[in-house]
Amino acid sequence: MAGTLTLRLRGLRWEAEGVFALELEAADGGVLPRFEPGAHIDLLLPGLPPRQYSLCGDPADVARWRIGVRAVAGGRVSQLIHRALRPGALLEASLPRNNFPLLASTNYLFIAGGIGITPLLPMLRAVGPRGTLLFCAKSAADAPFLAEARATGGTVEVFASSEGQRLDIARRLATVPAETRLYCCGPERLMLAVEQAAAHWPQDRVHFEWFAARSRPEDEGSESFDLVCAQRGLTLSVAAGTSVLHALRGAGIDLPSSCEQGVCGTCECRVLEGEIDHRDSILSAAERAEGAVMMACVSRARGKRLVLDL
Ligand code: FES
Repeated sequence: MAGTLTLRLRGLRWEAEGVFALELEAADGGVLPRFEPGAHIDLLLPGLPPRQYSLCGDPADVARWRIGVRAVAGGRVSQLIHRALRPGALLEASLPRNNFPLLASTNYLFIAGGIGITPLLPMLRAVGPRGTLLFCAKSAADAPFLAEARATGGTVEVFASSEGQRLDIARRLATVPAETRLYCCGPERLMLAVEQAAAHWPQDRVHFEWFAARSRPEDEGSESFDLVCAQRGLTLSVAAGTSVLHALRGAGIDLPSSCEQGVCGTCECRVLEGEIDHRDSILSAAERAEGAVMMACVSRARGKRLVLDL
């Protein structure tokens, strides 16, 4: 992966049930790159797949970064962090990347589920009283970074499932001013419910951050097709069940990748011809309709041929 740096784990704090806050600094004691609200880094632990974590500290702080890591059952990276990582450890990480930028508006509605608060925290700080956060968690005690969210000057409402409090998304969306921007991050069920409730909104005002691939039906079409690499004058066959990324690698073409789940944007490539079956969780509806780029790790051809600018 292009552009990595070595970080030292400065501190580890129990933030909420199953969530550690990791404070990171440059291993050489230098200044960290600046980041914008919504940005994430990839943690690159030896022998494990890269994992994306939102930077949830203060973007103005170039001495320290902070991420929140929830222990995921079966998640090798998060389990290693929770069980074995201790202050002083050195970690490789990518430079910050932002697929979830905070765009200008007069009003913001943020919807978070659990650890999904992390990309939204710097946004809440940035917009202050113009922001409203609807925070879904098992309980207030299990809602990570809640005290910080409450200190941003915005309105914060917690929906604690253990107390039977459910967020009525459609009703809430119906009551916000027309110019509101909506940002959402959380578990798939919440994201899909928000996506559905906001389907009638102008889609350039609705923003989602996915950290795992959307679940797809097992038998969803995965036909073989021809992949033309225009710059090389090369045609490859992408078999059913093989990704474009792996077909390219098989032919010795090394496209950078990280998540390989369609959520980070590292493997984006330009498409010159052909209809794309977009399967990522990054591109907007307008970008999909334009058909100029695709994520090679998950997206495929809708027809029999796709021409890439490679
Ligand atoms: S590698 Fe992350 S979107 Fe393809």
